[in-house]
Amino acid sequence: MLLYLVILIVCLVYYFVRQKFSYWSDRNVAHLPPKFPLGNLTGMGTKYHLIDIMRSTYEKFKNSEKIAGMYFSFGPVLVPIDLNIVETILVKNFSSFPNRGVYLNEKDEPLSAHLFAIEDEKWRFLRTKLSPTFTSGKIKFMYNTIASLGDDFLQIFLDGIDSNEPVDVKNVCQRFTSDVITSCAFGLDPQSLRTGTSEVLENGNKILIQPGWKSAKFFLLMMFRKWGQRLHIKSFPTEVSDFFYNLTKHTVEQREKDNIVRNDFLNLLIQIRNENSDDGNQLTIEQIAAQSLLFLIAGFETTSSTLTFALFNLARHTDVQDKVREEIQRTLAEHDGEISYAALKDMKYIDQVINETLRLFSPLGTVTRVAKTDFLLADTKMFIPKGQIIVIPVHAIHRDANIYPDPEKFDPDRFDSEIVQLRHKCSFIPFGNGPRNCIARRFGLLEVKFGIVKLLSQLKLTVNENTQLPLQFDNRSQILQSKNLILLNVEKF
Ligand code: HEM
Repeated sequence: MLLYLVILIVCLVYYFVRQKFSYWSDRNVAHLPPKFPLGNLTGMGTKYHLIDIMRSTYEKFKNSEKIAGMYFSFGPVLVPIDLNIVETILVKNFSSFPNRGVYLNEKDEPLSAHLFAIEDEKWRFLRTKLSPTFTSGKIKFMYNTIASLGDDFLQIFLDGIDSNEPVDVKNVCQRFTSDVITSCAFGLDPQSLRTGTSEVLENGNKILIQPGWKSAKFFLLMMFRKWGQRLHIKSFPTEVSDFFYNLTKHTVEQREKDNIVRNDFLNLLIQIRNENSDDGNQLTIEQIAAQSLLFLIAGFETTSSTLTFALFNLARHTDVQDKVREEIQRTLAEHDGEISYAALKDMKYIDQVINETLRLFSPLGTVTRVAKTDFLLADTKMFIPKGQIIVIPVHAIHRDANIYPDPEKFDPDRFDSEIVQLRHKCSFIPFGNGPRNCIARRFGLLEVKFGIVKLLSQLKLTVNENTQLPLQFDNRSQILQSKNLILLNVEKF
C-alpha cells in the first residue's frame, strides 16, 4: 500500500514539474533547460551570481531571438533581448508594465510597502510627492551635507599614507555613503567614517547580503507572492525592520515635539503626512518608516558599490586617472580651488568614467516589471499574459560585444557624447528607464563624483598587490560587490 502511495506521489510530482517546465516550449519560446527545483536559478548565491545566470541565457540567444524564457524555480520569467522590446516595456508602454512585481506583504510587514514595491495608484501618488526631494535645488542643498563628510572620508586615505598601509576601499566607501544617507535621510549624526561602523550600516548589510540560496529569496518570493503572503513570510529580518521603525518613530516624534525642520528626506515625508491629513491619503508612521528604510537600503550600497568600482578602475588605469586629475586641477583653478557643486558640474570626463564604471559594474544587474494587462508584443507577435514577470538583463546588455566592442575593457571614451548618440537608448540602463526609473539618479551620481574628486584632488591611487585579480563578485549580494578585499595604495602627488 505504502509503495503504491509513494509511486502515486512520485508520478504526481513528475507530472507537476513536467507541466510547469513545459511553459516555454508550449509557447515556442527559446530557453535553457531548467533543473528541479530552482529552475534556471540552480547554483544562485553559491556557485553563481544572478548576473551570470542571466548572461548565459542572453548570450546564448542574443543573435537569434528577440526574447527568451527562463524559469525562476517553477515560475516562468520573460527575458527581453531586443532593445526595442526593452524600450516598449520600460518606456513606450509603461501603462501596461507599471509595477516591478516585487514581494509585498503589508499586512505582516508594514515596512515592505515602500516605493520600490508598492503598485499602481499608491505608487503614483507617492512618486509624485517624493520626486521634489530630488530636484536640482534640493540636491544642491544636500550637496553641503555630502561635502561636509569629505574631510573624514579623505582622512582615512591620508591615514593609510601615514601608516604605510593600503586602504580597504570597499569598507571606506560603504562608510562614506552610509553616513551620507544617514544625514540626508534622517538628519542624524553620521558615525561610521569616524568610528568604523554604525547601526545603520550594519542593519543595511543584513538586508542586502544573504547567505547561500537565500540570496534567491527576493526572486522566489516575487514568483510566489500569494504563497509568501499566506505563509506570512517577511522580506526583511525582523530585527532590521524593528530597528528602522524605531529609528523613524523616535526621530519623527522628536521633530514634532521640538518643532525641528530640516532639509532632508524625512522632513519631506512628514510634510506629505501633514498636507494630506484630511483626504484619506495620510501617511502612517509605518509608511514613513518604509520609505526611509528604502532610501537607506537603495541609497547606500548602490552608491558605495559604484564609488568602489570607480576608484578600483582608476587605480588600475593610471592613464585615465591622470586625465581625471588633470580635469580636476583645471576645473578647480577656475572655481577658486573649491570643490563646489558648480565645479563638479563642469567636470565632464569624470561623468564618462562613472558611466563606464556603471556599464561594467551596474549595482543592480537586472530590472523587473510585471504585465498589468494582456499585451501583444508587435515585434514578435507574442502575447504577454497579465501577471507575466519580466526580467531585463541589464548586466548582460552592458557587456554585449555587439553593443560595446571589447566589452570587458574599461574605456570611458565609449561615453563621449557623440558616441553615446549612436547607441540605442536602452543600451545603457544602470538606473532603469521610463517613469519608474531610479528616483535619485542625480543624487547618487553627485555623491560618487564628489567622492572621486575629493580623493584625486590630492592623492594618487594604485592597486595593491594583495588584491586578488581578476575581481570576483560576491554571489550572495544583491547589489554587485567584490567578493574579496579591494586594497589600494595611496600616495600624495
Ligand atoms: C549609483 C547609484 C544608484 C543606482 C545605480 C541605482 C539604481 C536603481 C535602479 C536600477 C532602480 C530600478 C529602476 C527601474 O526599475 O527602472 C532604482 C530604483 C530606485 N532607487 Fe536607485 N540607484 C542608485 C542610487 C539611489 C539613491 C542614492 C537612492 C535614494 C536616496 C535611490 C532610491 C531609489 C528608489 C526609491 C527607487 C524606486 C523608484 C520607484 O519605484 O519609483 N537610488 N535605482
